[in-house]
Amino acid sequence: MVAPSLSNSDRTTSDRRNAPPSDRKDPNLLIWRPHDQRYQTSEWYTGYGEIQQEEDQRSFKVTATYTLQAEVKIVQGVLDPTNPILANLYRERERCVSIIDRTIEELYGETLRHYFQVHGIPLELKVCRAWESDKTPETVHQLLHFLGKEGCDVSRNEPVLVIGGGVLSDVAGLACALQHRRTPYVMIGTSIVAAIDAGPSPRTCVNGELFKNSIGVYHPPVLTLVDRSFFRTLPIGHIRNGMAEIIKMAVTDDRELFALLEQYGTDLIKTHFATVNADPELEKIADEVIYRALYAYMKHEGTNMFETYQDRPHAYGHTWSPRFEPAAKLMHGHAVTIGMAFGATLAEKLDWISAEDRDRIITLCRTLGLAVYHPILEDTELMLAGQQNMRRKRGQGGLWAPLPHGQIGSCDYAQEISPELLHTAITEHQTICSQFPDGGAGEQMYLGDLGLE
Ligand SMILES: NC(=O)c1ccc[n+]([C@@H]2O[C@H](COP(=O)([O-])OP(=O)(O)OC[C@H]3O[C@@H](n4cnc5c(N)ncnc54)[C@H](O)[C@@H]3O)[C@@H](O)[C@H]2O)c1
Repeated sequence: MVAPSLSNSDRTTSDRRNAPPSDRKDPNLLIWRPHDQRYQTSEWYTGYGEIQQEEDQRSFKVTATYTLQAEVKIVQGVLDPTNPILANLYRERERCVSIIDRTIEELYGETLRHYFQVHGIPLELKVCRAWESDKTPETVHQLLHFLGKEGCDVSRNEPVLVIGGGVLSDVAGLACALQHRRTPYVMIGTSIVAAIDAGPSPRTCVNGELFKNSIGVYHPPVLTLVDRSFFRTLPIGHIRNGMAEIIKMAVTDDRELFALLEQYGTDLIKTHFATVNADPELEKIADEVIYRALYAYMKHEGTNMFETYQDRPHAYGHTWSPRFEPAAKLMHGHAVTIGMAFGATLAEKLDWISAEDRDRIITLCRTLGLAVYHPILEDTELMLAGQQNMRRKRGQGGLWAPLPHGQIGSCDYAQEISPELLHTAITEHQTICSQFPDGGAGEQMYLGDLGLE
């Protein structure tokens, strides 16, 4: 529907002054609200603003908020032509502009094209290699070329369909954020990490030279579709890697999820999340694990989209790892479990959790083949640099490191970790892990192990 234009003079005083009663008392307070949906730039974004003049009539203050509606849905067979979700979304727009991970295009490109052909919707597809080493401004630039005037000239209320893993969601999300300053996108995360974490996340980014994910903006997808049937083709190493982000939410927020992982985690990895040789019981468990992880994550991250609050449980395992992950060339999930296992040891030293709970956390990571130790932790200078970086980044005088607290399933935030305590905790963690025959290493823990750079 085309919005009829209204000049400023058409708007009535009452339109402009539709303030809540308490605000009306101040004649200088002019409240502006979008009073008609016809003026919205896109169906997913609304806003509210107010402007308050000072008595001297020489200055004023403006306050504005921007409200986003983001939906997350667990679906099945999203590319099956009988599934109407994507067709309903793009039919009216008369095309679908999409960015897809190169591997996913090789595996599912034909199915995707067939889906849109069946529905008579033109598909404009950009295939993008998305390795960790591609998380650069140059990749974002290429995507902007595709989205912009030289490419398909996407409109600022046309949701771009992004299909791929966490690397693609980060770079394509950032490109969408930059195109027209904010172009909506729909995310189909095809890896576990992208499905339950990076995909619905508002944090779009590329890597900085020393720190991962340090350059970016907050721009969540307007819709995240999670379809675990993609995991059938996801290599086991990546399934395991994705488990790290689920463990993170289990330890900090959902005790039952932790118990489910203890009981079924290995089977879920073996069966690619119940998509290969699984019985219906395990399929149900797989859906429950995905739902619980997603819900726990979005309960905190989704309601704090712009990181205006520091209490972010999902940063567990991510305080020191952004520094040591690239330095040791670790897979993201393994870097996070090393951070979480170390965090558990630190939490026990702080008397925040019992030794039994610390060991349960370390044991779960190990049972699933995830790393809990890397000698890079012994590089105290690097760890302190990582800590300093986080303190600067998180600001407000504290480190805000989420650590398990009380029992598995809840957490609190450590503000001060002195160099002495850091050193003692690292030594203790090293002692704990040295009893393992592999020293706490994980399976396929390095980026190169899975053929990626
Ligand atoms: N923005 C955030 O909040 C956030 C959160 C967590 C992780 N991340 C980022 O996500 C990245 C890790 O994501 P990832 O683990 O998805 O890595 P990835 O994007 O590199 O994907 C892993 C590999 O699996 C392939 N792949 C993806 N889905 C597949 C499928 N269904 N079948 C076969 N192959 C498939 C990809 O092509 C790639 O080779 C890291 O860069 C990390 O920093 C971001």
